[in-house]
Amino acid sequence: MTDDRAGDGETPLSRYDQARYVENGEYEPLLSEKDLTRIEIGGGDRGSSDVDGDGSGDDGSSPLPDDLTRDSLELPELSEPELARHYTRLSQMIYGIDSGPYPLGSCTMKYNPKFTEDVAALPSAAVHPDRSEESVQGTLELLYRLQDYLARIGGMDAVTLQPPAGAAGEFVGIRVAAAYHEHNGEGHRDEVIVPESAHGTNFATAALGGYDVVSLPSDDEGRVDLEALEAALSEDTAALMLTNPNTLGLFERDIAEIAEMVHDVGGLLYYDGANLNALLGRARPGDMGFDVMHYNVHKTFATPHGGGGPGAGPVGVVEDLAPFLPAPRVRERDDRSKAGEALYERFDPEHTIGKVHGFDGNWLVLIKTFAYIARLGDEGLADASASAVLNANYLAEQIKYDVPYGPFHHEFVASAGEQDAADVAKRMLDHGVHPPTTKWPEIVPEALMTEPTEVESKATLDRLAAAFNAVASEDSETLETAPERTTARRIDQTSAARNPRLSWQALEDDSDSS
Ligand SMILES: Cc1ncc(COP(=O)(O)O)c(C=O)c1O
Repeated sequence: MTDDRAGDGETPLSRYDQARYVENGEYEPLLSEKDLTRIEIGGGDRGSSDVDGDGSGDDGSSPLPDDLTRDSLELPELSEPELARHYTRLSQMIYGIDSGPYPLGSCTMKYNPKFTEDVAALPSAAVHPDRSEESVQGTLELLYRLQDYLARIGGMDAVTLQPPAGAAGEFVGIRVAAAYHEHNGEGHRDEVIVPESAHGTNFATAALGGYDVVSLPSDDEGRVDLEALEAALSEDTAALMLTNPNTLGLFERDIAEIAEMVHDVGGLLYYDGANLNALLGRARPGDMGFDVMHYNVHKTFATPHGGGGPGAGPVGVVEDLAPFLPAPRVRERDDRSKAGEALYERFDPEHTIGKVHGFDGNWLVLIKTFAYIARLGDEGLADASASAVLNANYLAEQIKYDVPYGPFHHEFVASAGEQDAADVAKRMLDHGVHPPTTKWPEIVPEALMTEPTEVESKATLDRLAAAFNAVASEDSETLETAPERTTARRIDQTSAARNPRLSWQALEDDSDSS
Protein backbone atom coordinates (compact mmCIF):
# COMPACT_ATOMS: atom_id res chain seq x y z
CA MET A 1 0.00 0.00 0.00
CA THR A 2 1.37 3.36 -0.89
CA ASP A 3 0.70 6.78 0.52
CA ASP A 4 -0.32 8.75 -2.54
CA ARG A 5 0.30 12.11 -0.93
CA ALA A 6 1.03 13.82 -4.20
CA GLY A 7 -2.39 12.69 -5.45
CA ASP A 8 -1.07 11.92 -8.94
CA GLY A 9 -0.49 8.21 -8.65
CA GLU A 10 3.27 8.80 -8.15
CA THR A 11 5.25 7.73 -5.13
CA PRO A 12 5.77 10.47 -2.54
CA LEU A 13 9.33 11.69 -2.13
CA SER A 14 9.80 12.08 1.63
CA ARG A 15 12.69 9.84 2.71
CA TYR A 16 11.17 9.62 6.17
CA ASP A 17 8.42 7.52 4.68
CA GLN A 18 10.86 5.00 3.29
CA ALA A 19 10.42 2.41 6.05
CA ARG A 20 6.74 2.22 5.30
CA TYR A 21 7.42 0.88 1.83
CA VAL A 22 9.11 -2.30 2.96
CA GLU A 23 6.13 -4.58 3.23
CA ASN A 24 6.07 -8.36 3.32
CA GLY A 25 9.82 -8.31 2.89
CA GLU A 26 9.51 -6.61 -0.49
CA TYR A 27 11.06 -3.28 -1.29
CA GLU A 28 8.97 -0.93 -3.31
CA PRO A 29 11.06 1.78 -5.00
CA LEU A 30 10.43 5.23 -3.66
CA LEU A 31 11.19 7.08 -6.83
CA SER A 32 9.44 6.46 -10.09
CA GLU A 33 11.29 6.60 -13.38
CA LYS A 34 9.85 10.04 -13.94
CA ASP A 35 11.41 11.26 -10.71
CA LEU A 36 14.80 10.13 -11.92
CA THR A 37 14.62 12.09 -15.18
CA ARG A 38 17.19 14.88 -15.43
CA ILE A 39 15.76 18.26 -14.54
CA GLU A 40 16.93 21.08 -16.77
CA ILE A 41 17.34 24.04 -14.48
CA GLY A 42 15.97 27.12 -16.17
CA GLY A 43 13.76 24.79 -18.27
CA GLY A 44 13.19 24.58 -21.99
CA ASP A 45 15.36 23.52 -24.89
CA ARG A 46 18.92 24.81 -24.65
CA GLY A 47 19.29 24.37 -28.35
CA SER A 48 22.17 21.94 -27.88
CA SER A 49 22.69 18.30 -27.20
CA ASP A 50 25.37 19.23 -24.66
CA VAL A 51 23.18 18.67 -21.60
CA ASP A 52 26.25 18.30 -19.36
CA GLY A 53 27.44 21.73 -20.36
CA ASP A 54 30.97 20.28 -20.54
CA GLY A 55 31.55 21.11 -24.15
CA SER A 56 31.56 17.50 -25.32
CA GLY A 57 29.75 16.46 -28.41
CA ASP A 58 27.11 13.75 -28.81
CA ASP A 59 29.77 11.08 -29.12
CA GLY A 60 31.48 12.18 -25.87
CA SER A 61 34.50 13.55 -27.76
CA SER A 62 36.28 16.53 -26.24
CA PRO A 63 36.67 19.81 -28.11
CA LEU A 64 40.14 20.16 -26.48
CA PRO A 65 43.32 19.03 -28.29
CA ASP A 66 44.41 15.49 -27.40
CA ASP A 67 47.55 16.60 -25.55
CA LEU A 68 45.43 18.65 -23.15
CA THR A 69 43.06 15.87 -22.16
CA ARG A 70 43.53 12.82 -19.97
CA ASP A 71 41.61 9.60 -19.46
CA SER A 72 41.94 9.31 -15.73
CA LEU A 73 42.48 11.58 -12.77
CA GLU A 74 44.23 10.22 -9.71
CA LEU A 75 42.03 11.39 -6.92
CA PRO A 76 41.57 9.70 -3.56
CA GLU A 77 38.42 7.55 -3.58
CA LEU A 78 36.56 8.22 -0.38
CA SER A 79 33.04 7.84 0.88
CA GLU A 80 31.18 10.84 2.25
CA PRO A 81 31.62 9.88 5.94
CA GLU A 82 35.33 9.33 5.37
CA LEU A 83 35.60 12.75 3.75
CA ALA A 84 33.54 14.49 6.45
CA ARG A 85 35.62 12.87 9.18
CA HIS A 86 38.86 13.73 7.43
CA TYR A 87 38.03 17.43 7.33
CA THR A 88 36.58 17.43 10.84
CA ARG A 89 39.80 15.80 12.09
CA LEU A 90 41.90 18.37 10.24
CA SER A 91 39.84 21.21 11.72
CA GLN A 92 40.51 19.78 15.19
CA MET A 93 44.25 19.56 14.58
CA ILE A 94 44.53 23.28 14.03
CA TYR A 95 44.24 26.09 16.51
CA GLY A 96 42.03 28.98 15.50
CA ILE A 97 40.32 31.97 16.98
CA ASP A 98 37.20 29.85 17.45
CA SER A 99 39.22 27.42 19.63
CA GLY A 100 40.77 29.82 22.11
CA PRO A 101 42.64 33.10 22.72
CA TYR A 102 45.03 34.15 19.97
CA PRO A 103 47.00 37.13 21.33
CA LEU A 104 49.18 37.92 18.31
CA GLY A 105 50.37 41.49 18.82
CA SER A 106 49.74 43.86 15.91
CA CYS A 107 47.89 41.13 14.00
CA THR A 108 44.73 41.55 16.12
CA MET A 109 43.38 38.04 15.83
CA LYS A 110 39.97 38.69 17.25
CA TYR A 111 36.85 36.58 17.30
CA ASN A 112 34.50 37.33 14.43
CA PRO A 113 30.89 37.42 15.57
CA LYS A 114 28.81 35.01 13.52
CA PHE A 115 25.95 37.42 12.90
CA THR A 116 28.10 39.19 10.32
CA GLU A 117 28.44 35.88 8.47
CA ASP A 118 24.67 35.51 8.52
CA VAL A 119 24.24 38.94 6.98
CA ALA A 120 26.80 38.21 4.25
CA ALA A 121 25.06 34.89 3.53
CA LEU A 122 21.65 36.46 2.92
CA PRO A 123 20.45 35.57 -0.58
CA SER A 124 19.94 39.26 -1.24
CA ALA A 125 23.69 39.81 -0.73
CA ALA A 126 24.50 37.63 -3.73
CA VAL A 127 24.09 40.35 -6.32
CA HIS A 128 26.32 40.38 -9.36
CA PRO A 129 28.06 43.75 -9.50
CA ASP A 130 27.88 43.88 -13.28
CA ARG A 131 24.14 44.47 -13.25
CA SER A 132 22.76 47.87 -14.14
CA GLU A 133 23.15 50.53 -11.44
CA GLU A 134 19.37 50.93 -11.20
CA SER A 135 19.07 47.28 -10.19
CA VAL A 136 21.83 47.32 -7.53
CA GLN A 137 20.75 50.37 -5.58
CA GLY A 138 20.81 48.41 -2.29
CA THR A 139 24.43 47.39 -2.91
CA LEU A 140 25.41 50.94 -3.75
CA GLU A 141 23.62 52.35 -0.71
CA LEU A 142 25.48 49.95 1.58
CA LEU A 143 28.81 50.90 -0.01
CA TYR A 144 27.97 54.59 0.21
CA ARG A 145 27.00 54.34 3.87
CA LEU A 146 30.09 52.29 4.69
CA GLN A 147 32.32 54.91 3.02
CA ASP A 148 30.59 57.45 5.23
CA TYR A 149 30.87 55.38 8.45
CA LEU A 150 34.58 54.85 7.91
CA ALA A 151 35.20 58.48 7.03
CA ARG A 152 33.50 59.57 10.26
CA ILE A 153 35.30 56.97 12.37
CA GLY A 154 38.72 57.98 11.00
CA GLY A 155 38.07 61.72 10.75
CA MET A 156 38.66 61.59 6.99
CA ASP A 157 36.78 63.31 4.15
CA ALA A 158 36.63 60.53 1.56
CA VAL A 159 37.05 56.76 1.51
CA THR A 160 37.68 54.05 -1.08
CA LEU A 161 36.56 50.53 -0.23
CA GLN A 162 38.53 48.82 -2.98
CA PRO A 163 41.85 47.58 -1.51
CA PRO A 164 41.64 43.89 -0.53
CA ALA A 165 43.86 43.95 2.61
CA GLY A 166 45.68 46.27 5.00
CA ALA A 167 48.93 46.03 3.06
CA ALA A 168 47.07 46.65 -0.20
CA GLY A 169 45.48 49.69 1.47
CA GLU A 170 48.94 50.98 2.40
CA PHE A 171 50.06 50.65 -1.20
CA VAL A 172 46.99 52.48 -2.47
CA GLY A 173 47.46 55.21 0.18
CA ILE A 174 51.07 55.77 -0.82
CA ARG A 175 50.16 55.77 -4.54
CA VAL A 176 47.48 58.38 -3.83
CA ALA A 177 50.06 60.47 -1.93
CA ALA A 178 52.47 60.15 -4.86
CA ALA A 179 49.77 61.21 -7.37
CA TYR A 180 48.95 64.22 -5.18
CA HIS A 181 52.58 65.35 -5.07
CA GLU A 182 53.00 64.76 -8.78
CA HIS A 183 49.86 66.79 -9.55
CA ASN A 184 51.23 69.69 -7.47
CA GLY A 185 54.55 69.70 -9.30
CA GLU A 186 56.26 68.06 -6.32
CA GLY A 187 57.12 64.80 -8.02
CA HIS A 188 60.75 65.18 -6.94
CA ARG A 189 59.83 64.04 -3.40
CA ASP A 190 61.38 60.59 -3.26
CA GLU A 191 61.61 59.67 0.44
CA VAL A 192 59.16 58.03 2.83
CA ILE A 193 60.10 58.00 6.52
CA VAL A 194 59.20 54.86 8.50
CA PRO A 195 59.88 54.35 12.24
CA GLU A 196 62.21 51.43 12.91
CA SER A 197 59.52 49.80 15.05
CA ALA A 198 57.00 49.84 12.17
CA HIS A 199 55.33 46.80 10.64
CA GLY A 200 57.28 45.26 7.76
CA THR A 201 54.54 46.13 5.30
CA ASN A 202 55.23 49.86 5.85
CA PHE A 203 58.82 49.49 4.59
CA ALA A 204 57.67 47.25 1.76
CA THR A 205 54.91 49.67 0.76
CA ALA A 206 57.27 52.63 0.61
CA ALA A 207 59.80 50.67 -1.44
CA LEU A 208 57.14 49.23 -3.77
CA GLY A 209 55.76 52.75 -4.21
CA GLY A 210 59.14 53.70 -5.67
CA TYR A 211 60.43 55.61 -2.63
CA ASP A 212 63.69 55.56 -0.72
CA VAL A 213 62.92 54.37 2.80
CA VAL A 214 64.33 56.49 5.62
CA SER A 215 64.31 54.56 8.91
CA LEU A 216 63.47 56.57 12.03
CA PRO A 217 64.83 55.54 15.46
CA SER A 218 62.65 55.57 18.60
CA ASP A 219 63.46 57.62 21.70
CA ASP A 220 64.18 56.13 25.13
CA GLU A 221 60.46 55.89 25.87
CA GLY A 222 59.73 53.89 22.69
CA ARG A 223 58.10 56.78 20.85
CA VAL A 224 59.07 58.85 17.79
CA ASP A 225 62.37 60.64 18.46
CA LEU A 226 61.54 64.24 17.55
CA GLU A 227 65.16 65.25 17.00
CA ALA A 228 65.71 62.31 14.68
CA LEU A 229 62.50 63.22 12.85
CA GLU A 230 63.68 66.81 12.43
CA ALA A 231 66.91 65.52 10.92
CA ALA A 232 65.11 63.10 8.57
CA LEU A 233 62.58 65.60 7.21
CA SER A 234 63.45 67.59 4.10
CA GLU A 235 61.95 68.88 0.89
CA ASP A 236 62.42 65.34 -0.43
CA THR A 237 59.98 63.93 2.13
CA ALA A 238 56.84 62.59 0.49
CA ALA A 239 55.34 61.11 3.67
CA LEU A 240 55.89 59.81 7.19
CA MET A 241 54.14 56.51 7.88
CA LEU A 242 53.07 56.10 11.49
CA THR A 243 50.76 54.01 13.55
CA ASN A 244 49.29 55.39 16.76
CA PRO A 245 49.35 53.82 19.29
CA ASN A 246 52.63 52.49 17.97
CA THR A 247 53.73 48.86 17.79
CA LEU A 248 54.77 48.97 21.46
CA GLY A 249 51.17 49.87 22.30
CA LEU A 250 52.24 53.40 23.28
CA PHE A 251 50.33 56.50 22.31
CA GLU A 252 52.45 59.03 20.38
CA ARG A 253 51.82 61.96 22.69
CA ASP A 254 53.61 64.41 20.38
CA ILE A 255 51.41 63.57 17.44
CA ALA A 256 50.20 67.16 16.90
CA GLU A 257 53.80 68.41 16.80
CA ILE A 258 54.83 65.53 14.55
CA ALA A 259 52.02 66.42 12.11
CA GLU A 260 53.07 70.05 12.07
CA MET A 261 56.71 69.17 11.40
CA VAL A 262 55.78 66.90 8.48
CA HIS A 263 53.35 69.40 6.98
CA ASP A 264 55.87 72.23 7.34
CA VAL A 265 58.18 70.54 4.84
CA GLY A 266 55.26 69.77 2.52
CA GLY A 267 55.07 66.07 3.39
CA LEU A 268 51.97 63.98 4.14
CA LEU A 269 51.22 62.02 7.30
CA TYR A 270 50.13 58.43 6.70
CA TYR A 271 48.22 56.49 9.39
CA ASP A 272 48.60 52.71 9.52
CA GLY A 273 45.15 51.80 10.82
CA ALA A 274 46.17 48.41 12.20
CA ASN A 275 45.97 49.83 15.70
CA LEU A 276 42.74 51.77 15.30
CA ASN A 277 40.84 49.54 17.70
CA ALA A 278 42.72 51.25 20.54
CA LEU A 279 41.12 54.57 19.55
CA LEU A 280 37.78 53.49 18.13
CA GLY A 281 35.02 55.91 19.04
CA ARG A 282 37.39 57.98 21.21
CA ALA A 283 39.99 59.67 19.01
CA ARG A 284 40.39 60.06 15.25
CA PRO A 285 43.52 60.02 13.10
CA GLY A 286 42.12 62.88 11.00
CA ASP A 287 41.88 65.08 14.11
CA MET A 288 45.52 64.26 14.94
CA GLY A 289 46.68 65.63 11.59
CA PHE A 290 46.88 62.47 9.51
CA ASP A 291 46.16 63.00 5.79
CA VAL A 292 45.74 59.45 4.57
CA MET A 293 45.06 56.16 6.34
CA HIS A 294 44.04 52.58 5.78
CA TYR A 295 41.59 50.60 7.89
CA ASN A 296 42.29 46.92 8.58
CA VAL A 297 38.68 45.82 8.76
CA HIS A 298 39.66 42.35 10.00
CA LYS A 299 41.38 43.87 13.00
CA THR A 300 39.07 46.70 13.91
CA PHE A 301 35.66 45.66 12.68
CA ALA A 302 35.77 41.89 12.98
CA THR A 303 35.76 40.28 9.59
CA PRO A 304 37.87 37.15 9.09
CA HIS A 305 41.62 37.73 8.82
CA GLY A 306 42.61 37.29 5.22
CA GLY A 307 46.39 37.00 5.42
CA GLY A 308 46.91 39.57 2.66
CA GLY A 309 43.40 38.93 1.32
CA PRO A 310 40.63 38.15 0.82
CA GLY A 311 39.99 40.92 3.29
CA ALA A 312 39.53 44.62 2.90
CA GLY A 313 41.77 47.58 3.57
CA PRO A 314 39.70 50.69 2.79
CA VAL A 315 41.66 53.93 2.50
CA GLY A 316 40.53 57.30 3.85
CA VAL A 317 41.94 60.67 2.85
CA VAL A 318 41.50 64.35 3.59
CA GLU A 319 39.71 66.50 1.03
CA ASP A 320 42.81 67.53 -0.95
CA LEU A 321 43.66 63.91 -1.71
CA ALA A 322 40.12 62.76 -2.57
CA PRO A 323 40.41 63.41 -6.34
CA PHE A 324 43.22 60.84 -6.55
CA LEU A 325 41.40 57.90 -4.94
CA PRO A 326 40.89 54.70 -6.97
CA ALA A 327 37.88 54.33 -9.24
CA PRO A 328 35.05 53.78 -8.89
CA ARG A 329 33.66 55.24 -5.68
CA VAL A 330 29.98 55.56 -4.85
CA ARG A 331 28.09 58.82 -4.35
CA GLU A 332 24.57 60.12 -4.00
CA ARG A 333 23.19 61.42 -7.28
CA ASP A 334 22.41 65.09 -7.32
CA ASP A 335 20.81 65.11 -10.79
CA ARG A 336 17.65 63.15 -10.05
CA SER A 337 14.82 64.74 -11.96
CA LYS A 338 11.97 62.62 -10.61
CA ALA A 339 11.13 60.57 -7.56
CA GLY A 340 11.79 56.86 -7.98
CA GLU A 341 15.00 57.39 -9.93
CA ALA A 342 18.20 55.74 -8.73
CA LEU A 343 19.71 57.48 -5.70
CA TYR A 344 23.28 56.23 -5.88
CA GLU A 345 25.85 55.94 -8.65
CA ARG A 346 29.44 54.95 -9.16
CA PHE A 347 31.88 57.64 -10.29
CA ASP A 348 35.55 58.07 -11.12
CA PRO A 349 37.36 60.68 -8.99
CA GLU A 350 38.77 63.50 -11.14
CA HIS A 351 42.48 62.52 -11.02
CA THR A 352 42.01 58.91 -10.01
CA ILE A 353 45.02 56.59 -9.79
CA GLY A 354 42.77 54.08 -11.58
CA LYS A 355 41.36 50.71 -10.65
CA VAL A 356 42.94 48.61 -7.94
CA HIS A 357 40.31 45.86 -7.67
CA GLY A 358 37.45 44.40 -9.67
CA PHE A 359 34.10 46.13 -9.28
CA ASP A 360 33.56 47.50 -5.76
CA GLY A 361 36.22 45.60 -3.78
CA ASN A 362 35.66 42.50 -1.65
CA TRP A 363 31.94 42.95 -1.32
CA LEU A 364 31.21 40.15 1.17
CA VAL A 365 33.91 41.41 3.54
CA LEU A 366 32.55 44.92 3.23
CA ILE A 367 29.04 43.70 4.14
CA LYS A 368 30.45 42.19 7.34
CA THR A 369 32.24 45.43 8.16
CA PHE A 370 29.04 47.37 7.64
CA ALA A 371 27.00 44.93 9.76
CA TYR A 372 29.52 45.07 12.60
CA ILE A 373 29.66 48.87 12.72
CA ALA A 374 25.88 49.21 12.39
CA ARG A 375 25.27 46.66 15.18
CA LEU A 376 27.74 48.25 17.62
CA GLY A 377 26.93 51.88 16.95
CA ASP A 378 28.84 54.76 18.57
CA GLU A 379 28.58 53.38 22.06
CA GLY A 380 29.53 49.85 21.12
CA LEU A 381 32.59 51.02 19.17
CA ALA A 382 33.78 53.10 22.13
CA ASP A 383 33.18 50.12 24.44
CA ALA A 384 35.27 47.93 22.14
CA SER A 385 38.29 50.21 22.37
CA ALA A 386 37.87 50.56 26.15
CA SER A 387 37.87 46.79 26.57
CA ALA A 388 40.85 46.38 24.22
CA VAL A 389 42.90 48.79 26.33
CA LEU A 390 41.70 47.40 29.68
CA ASN A 391 42.42 43.80 28.63
CA ALA A 392 45.96 44.61 27.47
CA ASN A 393 46.82 46.48 30.66
CA TYR A 394 45.27 43.79 32.87
CA LEU A 395 47.21 41.02 31.17
CA ALA A 396 50.46 43.02 31.25
CA GLU A 397 50.04 43.25 35.04
CA GLN A 398 49.44 39.52 35.47
CA ILE A 399 52.46 38.09 33.70
CA LYS A 400 55.85 37.42 35.28
CA TYR A 401 57.88 38.46 32.25
CA ASP A 402 59.41 41.92 32.27
CA VAL A 403 57.16 44.41 30.46
CA PRO A 404 59.15 47.56 29.66
CA TYR A 405 57.51 50.88 28.70
CA GLY A 406 53.82 51.59 29.29
CA PRO A 407 51.10 52.48 30.12
CA PHE A 408 49.69 50.69 27.15
CA HIS A 409 46.83 50.91 24.80
CA HIS A 410 45.54 47.74 23.14
CA GLU A 411 48.81 45.78 23.19
CA PHE A 412 52.09 45.48 25.07
CA VAL A 413 55.50 44.01 24.40
CA ALA A 414 57.01 41.81 27.12
CA SER A 415 60.57 40.53 27.05
CA ALA A 416 61.36 36.82 27.36
CA GLY A 417 64.68 37.92 28.91
CA GLU A 418 67.14 35.01 29.01
CA GLN A 419 64.68 32.71 27.28
CA ASP A 420 64.33 32.53 23.50
CA ALA A 421 61.03 34.15 22.56
CA ALA A 422 60.44 31.54 19.83
CA ASP A 423 60.86 28.71 22.37
CA VAL A 424 58.44 30.45 24.71
CA ALA A 425 55.91 30.62 21.90
CA LYS A 426 56.26 26.90 21.08
CA ARG A 427 55.90 25.95 24.73
CA MET A 428 52.77 28.07 25.18
CA LEU A 429 51.09 25.79 22.63
CA ASP A 430 51.62 22.92 25.10
CA HIS A 431 49.76 24.96 27.68
CA GLY A 432 46.77 25.10 25.36
CA VAL A 433 46.86 28.70 24.14
CA HIS A 434 48.17 30.46 21.07
CA PRO A 435 51.38 32.42 21.73
CA PRO A 436 51.94 36.13 21.09
CA THR A 437 53.92 37.58 18.17
CA THR A 438 57.64 37.05 18.81
CA LYS A 439 60.95 38.85 18.20
CA TRP A 440 59.31 42.04 16.98
CA PRO A 441 59.59 44.98 17.49
CA GLU A 442 63.32 44.57 17.93
CA ILE A 443 63.67 47.44 20.42
CA VAL A 444 62.52 44.97 23.07
CA PRO A 445 64.94 42.01 23.37
CA GLU A 446 63.25 38.63 22.80
CA ALA A 447 59.96 40.44 22.28
CA LEU A 448 56.61 38.86 23.14
CA MET A 449 54.18 41.25 21.50
CA THR A 450 50.81 40.59 23.03
CA GLU A 451 47.35 41.80 22.05
CA PRO A 452 44.53 40.05 23.87
CA THR A 453 41.85 42.10 22.02
CA GLU A 454 38.59 43.37 23.39
CA VAL A 455 36.69 40.10 22.98
CA GLU A 456 38.36 38.04 25.73
CA SER A 457 36.85 37.60 29.19
CA LYS A 458 38.76 37.94 32.48
CA ALA A 459 38.72 34.14 32.83
CA THR A 460 40.40 33.78 29.43
CA LEU A 461 42.95 36.48 30.25
CA ASP A 462 43.76 34.63 33.49
CA ARG A 463 44.21 31.42 31.49
CA LEU A 464 46.59 33.24 29.16
CA ALA A 465 48.52 34.71 32.10
CA ALA A 466 48.78 31.25 33.68
CA ALA A 467 50.29 29.90 30.45
CA PHE A 468 52.80 32.77 30.24
CA ASN A 469 53.77 32.27 33.88
CA ALA A 470 54.09 28.49 33.66
CA VAL A 471 56.48 28.86 30.72
CA ALA A 472 58.43 31.64 32.47
CA SER A 473 59.55 29.20 35.14
CA GLU A 474 60.44 26.29 32.83
CA ASP A 475 63.98 25.14 32.01
CA SER A 476 65.66 25.58 28.65
CA GLU A 477 65.56 21.87 27.78
CA THR A 478 61.77 21.80 28.12
CA LEU A 479 61.48 24.94 26.02
CA GLU A 480 63.81 23.78 23.27
CA THR A 481 61.93 20.54 22.68
CA ALA A 482 58.47 22.10 22.77
CA PRO A 483 55.81 21.66 21.60
CA GLU A 484 55.14 18.15 22.83
CA ARG A 485 51.38 18.06 23.02
CA THR A 486 50.43 19.35 19.59
CA THR A 487 49.61 17.28 16.52
CA ALA A 488 52.67 18.60 14.70
CA ARG A 489 55.89 18.92 16.69
CA ARG A 490 58.42 21.65 16.04
CA ILE A 491 58.71 22.12 12.29
CA ASP A 492 61.56 23.50 10.24
CA GLN A 493 59.95 26.86 9.54
CA THR A 494 62.39 27.86 6.83
CA SER A 495 61.76 24.72 4.78
CA ALA A 496 58.04 24.99 5.40
CA ALA A 497 58.07 28.50 3.96
CA ARG A 498 60.51 27.85 1.11
CA ASN A 499 59.34 24.41 0.10
CA PRO A 500 55.66 24.14 0.92
CA ARG A 501 53.99 20.87 -0.03
CA LEU A 502 50.41 21.53 -0.70
CA SER A 503 49.08 18.31 -2.19
CA TRP A 504 48.27 14.93 -0.73
CA GLN A 505 50.65 13.25 -3.20
CA ALA A 506 53.64 15.23 -1.91
CA LEU A 507 53.02 13.96 1.60
CA GLU A 508 53.41 10.41 0.34
CA ASP A 509 56.52 11.01 -1.75
CA ASP A 510 59.29 12.42 0.38
CA SER A 511 61.90 12.20 -2.36
CA ASP A 512 60.16 14.75 -4.57
CA SER A 513 61.03 18.18 -3.26
CA SER A 514 60.20 20.07 -6.44
C1 LIG B 1 50.84 47.48 12.01
C2 LIG B 1 50.37 46.71 10.80
N1 LIG B 1 50.31 47.34 9.61
C3 LIG B 1 49.90 46.70 8.49
C4 LIG B 1 49.53 45.38 8.50
C5 LIG B 1 49.13 44.72 7.21
O1 LIG B 1 47.78 44.38 7.21
P1 LIG B 1 47.19 43.14 6.39
O2 LIG B 1 47.55 41.90 7.14
O3 LIG B 1 45.72 43.36 6.37
O4 LIG B 1 47.76 43.17 5.01
C6 LIG B 1 49.58 44.67 9.71
C7 LIG B 1 49.22 43.24 9.74
O5 LIG B 1 49.37 42.52 10.66
C8 LIG B 1 50.01 45.36 10.89
O6 LIG B 1 50.04 44.72 12.07
